[in-house]
This record gives sequence, structure tokens and C-alpha cells, in this order.
Amino acid sequence: MRQKSSQGAGMSSPVRVIVVGAGSRGENYSQFASVHPERMKVVGVADPREFARKKLQQQHDIEDDNVFEDWPRIIAREKFADAVLICTPDRLHKEPAVAFAKRGYHVLLEKPMATTAEDCKEIVEACTQSGVMLTVGHVLRYDPVIHKIKELIDAGVVGDVAHIQHLEPVGFYHFAHSFVRGNWRNEAESSFALLAKSCHDIDLIHHWAGARRCVKVSSFGAVSHFTKENKPAGAAGRCLDCSIEGNCPYSASKIYLDRVKRGHVGWPVSVICSDSLPDIESVTQALRTGPYGRCVYECDNDVCSNQVVNMEFEGGVTAAFSMVAFTEELCKRKTTIYGSKGELSYDGHEIRVFDFLTQKSTKHTAPSDTPVHFSMSGHGGADYHLMDAFISAVANNDASLIRSGPEETLLSHMLVFDAERSRLEGRVIYCGDANHS
Ligand SMILES: NC(=O)c1ccc[n+]([C@@H]2O[C@H](COP(=O)([O-])OP(=O)(O)OC[C@H]3O[C@@H](n4cnc5c(N)ncnc54)[C@H](O)[C@@H]3O)[C@@H](O)[C@H]2O)c1
Repeated sequence: MRQKSSQGAGMSSPVRVIVVGAGSRGENYSQFASVHPERMKVVGVADPREFARKKLQQQHDIEDDNVFEDWPRIIAREKFADAVLICTPDRLHKEPAVAFAKRGYHVLLEKPMATTAEDCKEIVEACTQSGVMLTVGHVLRYDPVIHKIKELIDAGVVGDVAHIQHLEPVGFYHFAHSFVRGNWRNEAESSFALLAKSCHDIDLIHHWAGARRCVKVSSFGAVSHFTKENKPAGAAGRCLDCSIEGNCPYSASKIYLDRVKRGHVGWPVSVICSDSLPDIESVTQALRTGPYGRCVYECDNDVCSNQVVNMEFEGGVTAAFSMVAFTEELCKRKTTIYGSKGELSYDGHEIRVFDFLTQKSTKHTAPSDTPVHFSMSGHGGADYHLMDAFISAVANNDASLIRSGPEETLLSHMLVFDAERSRLEGRVIYCGDANHS
């Protein structure tokens, strides 16, 4: 294990990390090394896509010997880094997480931890037994404003929390991109929507409820609208061939081609050309032949576009969560927390607390202090703060800096699995007890 080095105070050599999965998330987290080369160095990469691994190799000047097509070849080598960033697709989390933990690497694992409860437990067990730190990519825990909500609850501004209402507006074209045409559209290939998209939110609700045990959960949800039955008469199988795409809000021409024509090559355009940089030609080609050019009513999507979850925690605290595809806002969560002394509401920008005694409201926010690279990541700078915490934790050998560590994260993932079981089985689930239902 590294010597305690206190990043921010005295300096030692940078934390050496290996990136497994050099896609969007792997590349994004790796930027931390460009912003803080004195704190982190990317020394290895594994990705079967040549374009992705070469891009990361060039960005971070990684030695040829440390560039791999797959991660098992790294496990076979002597340990050559302090930590690993596991940013592979959802179904490829468990094996590398367990293998790297057993090899003594500290692990940053993208959410969801894994796609089954058993695999999540196995990951936590492997990290605990190996004595390595685990950070799960629950980036919202590191968003300064969202963190402020917890600080205000803990300071007692709303008194005893009685009820939490939380909305995740996914965004109409974001949903079409990721959950109808893209990587998270089909449960067998990735995971169900509540796990893929909303494990962040269930984790926050559990956290705000004081990380107390959830006693009962129920859930309903469905695939609305994005089905073959809703395909308009005359629509084609691909948007570039469609004579009526002008009337479709989900037209791939509007979502991707119009953006690249305006010079926008960031997300979601950046995702659709897997082997090249996006430009008008490569985006047009991707829409002609790839998954993102398909009619949204002709895809193999089966994940819920709207889902609700009701929870009762120990002590009678209740919570109601909604995830909706059909929204103007993209992922700007809205929350209200009702307590015995006041009401706290968060609109995705700032926090307002109304005090029942004084009948006055106060507004709160929190400075982000995020370098430009990271504020462009789509999580309001939270990715930067997650990396800041993980790298400091490794450098200082101090797991207390990690907000999304193994214990609480495992509990909130279990709650997600119970909620989905409720939806599928159409009944209330008594958490943690398969026989009581
Ligand atoms: N924390 C968040 O808010 C957040 C946001 C988006 C995605 N995610 C999660 O992050 C993970 C990665 O998502 P992404 O958007 O970067 O996807 P992506 O498709 O852009 O990247 C995944 C990469 O993994 C590579 N890969 C596949 N098999 C591999 C293997 N055996 N070894 C090494 N690399 C392999 C792929 O080639 C690809 O480059 C997913 O689990 C996703 O759910 C988390």
C-alpha cells in the first residue's frame, strides 16, 4: 500500500491508474490526470476497440507495453499501478472488479456495481477481503449542491425527515438516445432502467433517509410510446430514409446531424461514431448503418420509460420516486424533503428551505470550483469531485474520503433490485426477506 501523502498538503508521486474500458466514462475520468498531472497518471489501458485505446494512449502517453485489448492480460502481469478505473459496459463489471481487487488494486467501479444482487455482494466481499478501497460511480454524491442537501438535513433544518419526493426527468432525446436506440435499451444486453439510470436516485433517497433500512417497497413501470404499435403510418425504418421525420421529435437527423452541422461534436454526437471522430460524414454514415439511425418505433428496446417506486423506511419515513423519459429537462433532478420543522426543495439549481416556525425561506447553493474540462461532463462537475475524492483516498490511504463506498452502496443497490422485483411480480416486497410478501 502507498505511503500516506496528503494531496493538497505535501506531495508525493502521482497515483498510478489503469483504465479498463476507454469509452465515454473511462476517457472522462482520465481527464483528471490532464488537470492534475502531479496527482494522477494513467499508466495502462485495456479496451477491445483499437480506436478507443489508442486515443487514450495518446492522450496520456501510455507505454506500448501497457496497452491491452482485454483486462485479463493485466491481471496476468505483475501489479504496475495503484488503482483501476473500471468503465466497461454494465454486464462486464463483476469479473474485472473482483479480479483487480484480489490483485490488490484500489477500485473505482462505474455504476451499477453489477447487474445481480449476488454479483454486487461478491465485489464488496472481494474488496473487503483484499483490503482495497472501492468507490462506486455514484457521481451525484459528489455534486456540491446535492451534498449540501445532506448537510442541511443533518444540521436539522427540516427537523425529523418524514417524506422524500424525488423526480428524475431523463429528457426526451436523451431517453431516445440511450434507452431506445443506445447501449441501455435492452435489459439482456445491459440492465433494467431503474438500475441503469436510477440507481443514483435510489442511493440518494436512501442517503437522505439517514441510510436506515428500507422495510417495504413497491414499484410500477412500463415501456410507453416507444413500441412498434406507435409507429406512424408512412414512417421508414431509418430516419435518413423517412419522409415524415420532420414531424418527429425523436428524429435522428435532428438529434445528431443537425447538431454536428452546427459544430457541436460533444455528447450525444460523440458517442455514435465508435471508430472515428464525429464529423458530418461519419455521423451520416453512423445514421445510415448503425443503431442510432433507427426509427425509435422499430428498435429492440425493452426498458421502462416511466417508473415509480414507493418506499417505507424504518421509523415510518416514506419516499416516492418517479423516473420519466418524456421531459424537457435532462437529468435535472427535483426533490422535496418534508420534515417536522420545515420543507426543503431542490429544483436542480438551488436549494430552498422553508421554516415552519419563522415562516421564512432561505436559499442555499454550493460553489463547484470545477476545472473547465470537468464542468463539461454533464454531471455538473460531480465527475471531477468524485475523482478528486478517489485519488485523495488512494494517495492518503484514507477511505473516509469516499462517499460512495461499499456498505451504503451495496444497501442502495439491494433496494433497487427489490423495487424491480416488486414491479415484475406485481406485489409489495418486504426488503431483505424473500419469504415475507
Ligand atoms: N456514473 C454515471 O453517471 C454514468 C454515466 C454513464 C455511464 N455510466 C456507466 O459507465 C459504464 C461505461 O459507460 P460508457 O458510457 O463509458 O460506455 P462506452 O460504451 O462509451 O464505453 C465502454 C467501453 O468498454 C469497452 N469494453 C468492452 N469490453 C471490454 C473489455 N472486456 N475490457 C475492456 N474494455 C471493454 C468498450 O469497447 C467501450 O470502449 C457503464 O456501466 C455505464 O452504465 C455511468
